[in-house]
Amino acid sequence: IRYIDDMQLTGKRVFIRVDFNVPLEGRRITDDTRIREALPTIQKALELGGKVILASHLGRPKGPEPKLSLEPAASRLSELLGGKHEVILADDCVGDGVRKLVKDQKEGQVLMLENLRFHKEEEANDEAFARELASFADVYINDAFGTAHRAHASTAGMVPYVKEKGAGLLMRKELEYLGGAMKNPAKPFVAILGGSKVSDKIKVIESLLPKVDALLVGGAMAYTFLKAQGLEVGKSRVEEDKLPMAQRLMEAAQRLKTSLVLPIDHICSTELGDKGPLREVPDRAIPADLIGLDIGPKTRAMYAEHIRDAKTVIWNGPMGMFEVPRYAAGTRSVAEAMVANKNAVTIVGGGDSAAAVNDMGLGSKLSHVSTGGGASLEFLEGRELPGVKALETK
Ligand code: 3PG
Repeated sequence: IRYIDDMQLTGKRVFIRVDFNVPLEGRRITDDTRIREALPTIQKALELGGKVILASHLGRPKGPEPKLSLEPAASRLSELLGGKHEVILADDCVGDGVRKLVKDQKEGQVLMLENLRFHKEEEANDEAFARELASFADVYINDAFGTAHRAHASTAGMVPYVKEKGAGLLMRKELEYLGGAMKNPAKPFVAILGGSKVSDKIKVIESLLPKVDALLVGGAMAYTFLKAQGLEVGKSRVEEDKLPMAQRLMEAAQRLKTSLVLPIDHICSTELGDKGPLREVPDRAIPADLIGLDIGPKTRAMYAEHIRDAKTVIWNGPMGMFEVPRYAAGTRSVAEAMVANKNAVTIVGGGDSAAAVNDMGLGSKLSHVSTGGGASLEFLEGRELPGVKALETK
């Protein structure tokens, strides 16, 4: 893969696929991490004299939906560029209007195309649509790691029709950190997986078990494992149909001599949300009337110890129902233990855990917080990402 800082861009039209699929409340961006993380690539392209054309999707619209316009992202980008570059938002991503804007674009201006998914051809990876996007560009750069698991027109289809192709600096950072952990991790290598469903993480567990020294489990998925061990888990969320799979994963861990570590105590209540009495359960088993909602203090200490001794730590998925403050301690303790280990490469694999870490203001204290959700999971599953494959030079 070639990278943008190694390319000749002077006077060239540089089409950069970014992932500006940011969370919105109305027209307000509630987390602009993905836009900030794309800045180095955008600035590099401008610095190298390229005419920058940005393209992204936002949400999952069915046709043009004004509330999913990229307008808030364009204004935010303009602010982040310090007003030094005019950011022009086209009213579409293809068509004569866009063609004219591309033709008239002046050096230093940034042209942003409107939401790619306003056209169903984007997700359908339609060839004519892909060719039209390609016709705007001399150089194609993909910096949208978060969307690299999609084989869409802007991430895959258009690439062969542009003269030159390469990856951006965010893409490089993501591939270096996540790829480094998968291929050549410093040992001990500890993975922490959480979230509500085992089913979402089966492939990640299978792919990590042979690589890690310990895999620590939290979140509701831990209750499926505990139940598969024959323990009482009360009214906690369990995927009954995944009990045999959980059993098989624990056997696989034993064969591989990898410790698959489960919670030894819990924070529970009789109800979901922040209602019901808060109960600390000091055992592995959970009484019949209770729901497990976070890992307990003994588990937090034990997981922190594993993290303290590691040289590589990778984390994906919260340890409990962290959006309710009284169940956020487990998730927070993992984040803090990672921050405290200055001798390790510490990676957060995106999604909810990345949002949690950024909310706590700890993101910048870790080696890498991925901007990918689904993309980082697929990467950790060991799958090839179509958006990355398209950049590979033969
Ligand atoms: C994401 O947020 O995971 C990416 O932007 C991809 O979005 P999608 O799941 O709608 O394809």
